[in-house]
Amino acid sequence: MRIDVLTLFPNMFAEVLGTSIIGRAQENKIIEVKLWNIRDFARDKHRIVDDTPYGGGAGMVMKPDVLAACIEHVKTENSGKVIYLAPQGTVFNQDRAKSLAREANLIFLCGHYEGIDQRIRDYWIDEEISIGDYVLTGGELPAMVVIDAVVRLIPGVLGDQASAQEDSFYNGLLEYPHYTRPAEFRGLEVPDILLSGNHELIRKWRLKEALRVTMLRRPDLLQNRQFTDEEVMLLQELAVEHREEGR
Ligand SMILES: C[S@@+](CC[C@H](N)C(=O)[O-])C[C@H]1O[C@@H](n2cnc3c(N)ncnc32)[C@H](O)[C@@H]1O
Repeated sequence: MRIDVLTLFPNMFAEVLGTSIIGRAQENKIIEVKLWNIRDFARDKHRIVDDTPYGGGAGMVMKPDVLAACIEHVKTENSGKVIYLAPQGTVFNQDRAKSLAREANLIFLCGHYEGIDQRIRDYWIDEEISIGDYVLTGGELPAMVVIDAVVRLIPGVLGDQASAQEDSFYNGLLEYPHYTRPAEFRGLEVPDILLSGNHELIRKWRLKEALRVTMLRRPDLLQNRQFTDEEVMLLQELAVEHREEGR
């Protein structure tokens, strides 16, 4: 996958995208990330990228002429959709990460200050993505969040692709708890079943715990779920356990 990022602060990306799994994906040529400094497309001698908003008010707005020049140049190298990170965008989730992971090319535009001129949003942007209902200083962290979530789903990026498929949200549930050695730590023990070596019992335990944590913390995720017969049975067991705990 080829990813181009348009930003006023390209240095912010080096450490995050150059390290660990995403860094390795670049070394292994599974992804190629190219960073563009939007300021390089400002044509005046002071290389101005923003201006005051028409109608008055606080803050500065990123200029349409500079942004259009930058986007149009990048599009000569990358034919992917242009995604603007914005609080008004569709809230990002695992399903959107999965579908973006199937694209061959993506372009991310990071806003700063008050954001970007609306005309760019109307005519140069294909999609707007928000990473949640809060406001950050710039689109750089949101772009890194989206890139990280997308890239780890590309086949070959994670050593064991199955691990992504067991992660929270992948199959609509939160993930079950993990334990590692030692089996007893300050008197706290690992559930016996995980030490049993019985793969079928472990699979069932994990599914039940995933249902439990989802039911307790994110019941909204279960609302439109098509439960399997096994899940229905495990939910009944959980209901009995919770009733007994409540007594
Ligand atoms: C300070 S914010 C601008 C906020 C804008 N004035 C508003 O109220 O919607 C600057 C930039 O950060 C990015 N940004 C901030 N919060 C974001 C979020 N929750 N999701 C995605 N991008 C965000 C956008 O690129 C935005 O242009």
